[in-house]
Amino acid sequence: MSDTNKQLRVSKIRDGTVIDHLAAGQALNVLAILGIDGSGGEGVSIGMNVPSDRLARKDIVKVEGRELSQSEVDVLSVISPEATINIVRDYEVVEKKRVERPEEVTGVVSCPNRNCITNADEPVVSRFEVLSDGLRCGYCGDIVREGEVAENLDVS
Ligand code: CTP
Ligand code: ZN
Repeated sequence: MSDTNKQLRVSKIRDGTVIDHLAAGQALNVLAILGIDGSGGEGVSIGMNVPSDRLARKDIVKVEGRELSQSEVDVLSVISPEATINIVRDYEVVEKKRVERPEEVTGVVSCPNRNCITNADEPVVSRFEVLSDGLRCGYCGDIVREGEVAENLDVS
């Protein structure tokens, strides 16, 4: 087998979005945050712990037939700041962008403070201010540090 064949883990897609250079282990969180569960009928491929030049190991997610916008992907920066987004049309990458840290994220992360209003049985949507190394709850001020975001996702 040629080197190219050995390296081809996940097939190329014709049209859609490739979310590349995800921190290893984050692929399923990415799908949960984006609300992609296959129920829309779109093709979804996932590579986990794939060898990478830039990172030791990476995850990769390919969504067919759907071009994700900058604002849709920016929320991924809280779990994977190195992620790159490739928009693919007719097998060619026509746009490559980095995720950018949004000023705030709403409805994606749950507050670790059990006494926070967002954890009471009230119709309050969580809202966090994005800091350089974590998130601050807009209601109680509790901090979710960068490494703790993945375990505090509220995406069900
Ligand atoms: N890709 C894909 N289907 C296509 C084209 C590209 O799944 N029709 C994937 C590639 O497998 C790669 C990503 O999209 O994981 C980016 O493609 P490309 O820019 O061609 O690769 P690189 O130059 O290696 O990207 P980077 O510089 O971002 O590492
Ligand atoms: Zn709170």
